[in-house]
Amino acid sequence: MRIIRTKDYAEASAVAAELMAAQITLKPDSVIGLATGSTPCGMYANLVEKCKNGLDFSAVTTVNLDEYVGLPAEHEQSYRKFMNTNLFDHVNIKPENTHLPNGMAEDPEAECVRYEALINSLGGVDMQLLGIGHNGHIGFNEPSDRFVCDTNCITLTARTIEANSRFFSSADEVPKRALSMGIRTILRAKRILLLITGTDKAEILKKAVYGPVTPEVPASILQMHPDVTLVADADALSAL
Ligand code: F6R
Repeated sequence: MRIIRTKDYAEASAVAAELMAAQITLKPDSVIGLATGSTPCGMYANLVEKCKNGLDFSAVTTVNLDEYVGLPAEHEQSYRKFMNTNLFDHVNIKPENTHLPNGMAEDPEAECVRYEALINSLGGVDMQLLGIGHNGHIGFNEPSDRFVCDTNCITLTARTIEANSRFFSSADEVPKRALSMGIRTILRAKRILLLITGTDKAEILKKAVYGPVTPEVPASILQMHPDVTLVADADALSAL
């Protein structure tokens, strides 16, 4: 794992955007795996700026990690809406080349199979962006007694519902289930860009990087991947 230490969130966002832009420049038809959440917002803002300055998304395809079950695309808190607002609406990517699991699918299990097949049909992910949850989740793969392999329908933990309730008027409104790429789906990406900032992530980052590889800390599986670049600010690295 390469570790790039930055002084703060702004610098981490700029460095992560630089790495993503390099991937797109070197392979204009890259398949990029994307994440939502607070952490990547600054990176997406940097990518929007880069696009204004010539970074070309016209041949890029994206696949997002996850989506809530039961939220229509136009819902303010759906991950589709998040991606449109933070990135897709502001860069020259073709809308039909942007993919998220369909949280409104009648049969969530069948949707997981479709999404997994879609990623395979694209030839896999060239660069996957990841954040990390306070409990060590990646995508929505929550701590468990086993690694869940393929794209699957997940029941969110109380901690994740609590963490995500900041975007809803109450915890009751947070969907209880989500569709998420599985651990094997994520690990098949050729490159992984892990972006982590803030003191509140310091302890879990230490466990993920130096602790045992265990499904109790899903992000610890990244120790097994041959090409992970961690971009983290001094706060997130403070426990290492
Ligand atoms: C989001 C995702 C999650 C987040 C994680 C961190 O698509 O897959 O694993 O990356 O929950 O979220 P933030 O950045 O809000 O702390």
